[in-house]
Amino acid sequence: MSPDSQVSMNVVLVVGVIFSALLGVVLYMRRKMNESGNILSGSNIENLQGKIIVVTGGSNGIGKALVSELAGAGAKVVNGSRRLSELRTGPHPNVSTQNEKSERLSDNIHLDLSSFKSIETFFKEIIQKYGYIDILINNAACMGPKRTSDDNIDYCFQVNYLGHFFLSKLFINNHLKNENRTNQRLTIINLASNVFDMGSFISDNDITSLTNQNAANYTLLNGYANSKLCMILFSTELDRRYRHRGIQTIAVHPGYVKTGLQKHYPGLVGVILRCVASKLFRTPEEAVKGILFCCVREDKAALCGKVLFDGRLMEKWYIETNKELRSQKKAIMLWELSEKILESSKIASTDI
Ligand SMILES: NC(=O)c1ccc[n+]([C@@H]2O[C@H](COP(=O)([O-])OP(=O)(O)OC[C@H]3O[C@@H](n4cnc5c(N)ncnc54)[C@H](OP(=O)(O)O)[C@@H]3O)[C@@H](O)[C@H]2O)c1
Ligand SMILES: *[C@@H]1O[C@H](CO)[C@@H](O)[C@H](O)[C@H]1NC(C)=O
Ligand SMILES: *[C@@H]1O[C@H](CO)[C@@H](O)[C@H](O)[C@H]1NC(C)=O
Ligand SMILES: *[C@@H]1O[C@H](CO)[C@@H](O)[C@H](O)[C@H]1NC(C)=O
Ligand SMILES: *[C@@H]1O[C@H](CO)[C@@H](O)[C@H](O)[C@H]1NC(C)=O
Repeated sequence: MSPDSQVSMNVVLVVGVIFSALLGVVLYMRRKMNESGNILSGSNIENLQGKIIVVTGGSNGIGKALVSELAGAGAKVVNGSRRLSELRTGPHPNVSTQNEKSERLSDNIHLDLSSFKSIETFFKEIIQKYGYIDILINNAACMGPKRTSDDNIDYCFQVNYLGHFFLSKLFINNHLKNENRTNQRLTIINLASNVFDMGSFISDNDITSLTNQNAANYTLLNGYANSKLCMILFSTELDRRYRHRGIQTIAVHPGYVKTGLQKHYPGLVGVILRCVASKLFRTPEEAVKGILFCCVREDKAALCGKVLFDGRLMEKWYIETNKELRSQKKAIMLWELSEKILESSKIASTDI
């Protein structure tokens, strides 16, 4: 063997070893990220039979899988979706596939969270049909593009957080004044994310800058992370204000999931995000287990006001908010700001 081919053999060997090592790391990470374990074992999924459950954003990703699972378990599921053109309510004539079955069982009602008017109409239609609900799952979200909502608010801030704040308040008021529900509970599950700490507002005193698209440091990723931080703060504050009145609030991080969430994210960052998601992230079916866990657990008291990931406390939140008072102050500021925005918007009256 010539020295030259010896060298190229060695190069091939080194490249091969590096490649295998990388592949090993990728496969290991993928397994670590996707395992949610057997968190539903011992849970009584039959508990959902006949429960009235509202899911926002049931047309895609986690929401879609969730609607299917819940409907499959015998719950009456309202699928809130803005896809009016595909909207079909009532029974689907020919049921064959699992998908068709869930579409038949779920009640698809139009909901566009970027419009307070639409949210109000959605709420009224549900109350008219069902009278009350047992569980509200605030799931819908977007990550870009940069634009303003019908109500002239940063689009993703409204869809991901403020619209859900409004919808939740409508259902809470309805629950509290319904004399038939005094001994029942209303459960609110908010989809959060592990990326909450990428939001600038964790280190920002001026909370109103949250929605300021003209701020020099406004980015879509920041905006998304801020909206998810808002969902967590909203959850903890909702729990503090309403737990004693029968409202059970839980925030859930679903893990990193292969969905359409990054589809509108522009540029190279978008390409990278979509690539990583498709190669590494878990499936919606896997992610849904942590949400189902919250729905079926009988003793929810231990979960209320908490931020969970696969049925356990989401470590990152508890590490970063050791300084509990600081985050409570922020949660109160956010709550008050949200009410102020709703009040200044004529359509949004939570007192229905
Ligand atoms: N994927 C992840 O890695 C990950 C990680 C942490 C947290 N989460 C959270 O998980 C939740 C579900 O996200 P996903 O990953 O399943 O994303 P997805 O596949 O993009 O699903 C989002 C859903 O929200 C709906 N939606 C968007 N804008 C809406 C609007 N204006 N009005 C009503 N519905 C609207 C979408 O409807 P269309 O089909 O009409 O667009 C879609 O059904 C989100 O809260 C997200 O923040 C996801
Ligand atoms: C929810 O409703 C939308 C709009 O009708 C539909 O496209 C989607 O398939 C529904 N989701 C499920 C799980 O049935
Ligand atoms: C449903 O099935 C029946 C009989 O199997 C068939 O006559 C009818 O055309 C089908 N309807 C649809 C909408 O596929
Ligand atoms: C409470 O239940 C009664 C009897 O079923 C019913 O007539 C009434 O409309 C219910 N009230 C509400 C607010 O749903
Ligand atoms: C973003 O800018 C605002 C003021 O424009 C500032 O208060 C805030 O701290 C900044 N956030 C970050 C993460 O730099």
